Formats: sequence, structure tokens, C-alpha cells
Amino acid sequence: MTVTTDVRTLTDRHAVVTGASRGIGAAIAEALAREGASLTLMGRDVAALSQRAAALTARHHVRALPVACDVSDADAVARAFDASREALGDAHVLVANAGEAASATAGDTSRALWDRMLAVNLTGAFLCVQAVLPAMRAARFGRVVLVSSTSALKGYPRTAAYAAAKAGLLGLARALAAEVARDGVTVNAVCPGYTETDMARAAIDNLVAAGRTPEEARRALERLNPRHALVTPEEVAATVVWLCAPSSGAITGQAVAVAAGEVM
Ligand SMILES: NC(=O)c1ccc[n+]([C@@H]2O[C@H](COP(=O)([O-])OP(=O)(O)OC[C@H]3O[C@@H](n4cnc5c(N)ncnc54)[C@H](OP(=O)(O)O)[C@@H]3O)[C@@H](O)[C@H]2O)c1
Repeated sequence: MTVTTDVRTLTDRHAVVTGASRGIGAAIAEALAREGASLTLMGRDVAALSQRAAALTARHHVRALPVACDVSDADAVARAFDASREALGDAHVLVANAGEAASATAGDTSRALWDRMLAVNLTGAFLCVQAVLPAMRAARFGRVVLVSSTSALKGYPRTAAYAAAKAGLLGLARALAAEVARDGVTVNAVCPGYTETDMARAAIDNLVAAGRTPEEARRALERLNPRHALVTPEEVAATVVWLCAPSSGAITGQAVAVAAGEVM
């Protein structure tokens, strides 16, 4: 007789991933599903989320729910988490990954651009955390991962508003980690360097618009780290899965760079 045991680390856990329609968030959702978690996929592009959800269910035999949510809209966040809870129960894992990067010098940063960068990248994550934390504390288990950036750890020109928001996530992670440490809930940030997604492709396009060839522009980003290659979404996802593992309970309040040595 063959006895098969499910050795996946997140079976019976429900994970919410924001910005799961593509890029790093899609890779994180895939990696969490591979570990057996049921998934709520949030973002604005419901068609893309629905396709991803169906693919995750087919590949990993997990439940996956697409939910429309603009994280910069507090009412939309409240509605999305209500829908998620109703369908899949309270969340055990939150990966606040939704983000947007706009490039401008500090002088050219309008108040509207500043407000938008903070609303999507920082306040959006905070609203999602508030939506899940009470149930995590009551359950005495939770894993919160905030997707920050190396821009929170070092200075890149033309990123003031985005960098301020991403640095804010580190403060949020540390303060929350201290607040909920005795409740079995960990709160960490991951800080990817330039990662092979639409966001990095937009950064390459900006350099091309400023006069570089596409090859030069790509090489400029690759050479920011000593590996001379962009980070992959799967590398970020693997770090997130590690932070979400039941065995990672002593890792909290950290900013983990996934940046191929760009920051040391
Ligand atoms: N790629 C990099 O080089 C890099 C480096 C460091 C950190 N990061 C961070 O990693 C995270 C993921 O970025 P990525 O590279 O995967 O970028 P991406 O390919 O542009 O994807 C961004 C994701 O965020 C979602 N999103 C954007 N605005 C949203 C909003 N207002 N509400 C809900 N969802 C929203 C998008 O989904 P919808 O369009 O469906 O809403 C999409 O799924 C971001 O927080 C980013 O700042 C990226």
C-alpha cells in the first residue's frame, strides 16, 4: 500500500496577495499555491486575475479567488476583504505587493504624484494589514509580508515619492512586528532590486527616452548589482514563501533584500 503525505508547508492556510495579476505578485501567488495555500488574488485587472486563479487551481489543486480591488480606495479594500473572508475564511497570510512606480525628480514631483505614490504603495498596504490583523491575532498565527524595494535602503535619483513610500513600509513592518510579536504574527518586508517585470521594463523605457539604446539601458540596470543580472520574480517569491513558512516564526521586523548583492 502506498501512503502519500502532503508535505506542503501552507496546506489549510489562506493567503491574500495584492497585485497578483502579473509580475512579482503573480510569482508569489504561484509559489504559495505550490505550498498548498488557498489564494485570494487582488488587483484591478479582474480578467487577468481570473485567468491566474483558474491556472493555479488547475496546477496546484488549491482554491483561488479573484477579487477586484484598487488598494488606494479604502472602501474597495474593505469590500474586497469581506468577499475574500466570506469565500475562503480569515486570511493567515497577507502579501501586500500591489505597487506603482513613477519616476520624477523631487522638484518635478507634483503633489498629486506624491499623494498617489503614498496612497498605492504605503497607505494601500496599511489598509490591507488592518483588514487581516485582528483575525490573525485571534488565531494566534499570521504572516504579513510587505513588498518594499531597495529604494527604501539606498538612494536612486528620480524616485523621491516612490522611495519615501517604500521606506515607510519598513517603518510599518518594524512597528507592527513589535506590536504583534506575542500573538504568533510576524511582519516582514522584502526589498527586491530591479526585477524582470513590467515595472523594470518601464524603467528601461525611461532610460531609452533619455537617449540610451535599449541594450545600454538594460545593462545599466543589470550592472547595479554585482551579479550583473536582474532579479527574477521567482527569486522574490521564494523569499516570501520562506518568510511565510510555519518554521519562520522567529523572523520578524526584518527588511530582507532580494537584490543579488546590490545592497550589503
Ligand atoms: N520590478 C521591480 O524592479 C521592483 C523592484 C522593487 C520593488 N518592486 C515592487 O514589487 C511590487 C510588484 O511590482 P512588479 O514589478 O511586479 O510590477 P508590475 O509588473 O507593474 O505589477 C504591479 C502589480 O500591482 C498591481 N497594482 C498596481 N496598482 C494597484 C492598485 N492601485 N491597486 C491594486 N493593485 C495594483 C497591478 O495589478 P493591476 O494592474 O491588475 O491592478 C500588478 O499586479 C511593487 O510593490 C513594486 O513596487 C518591484
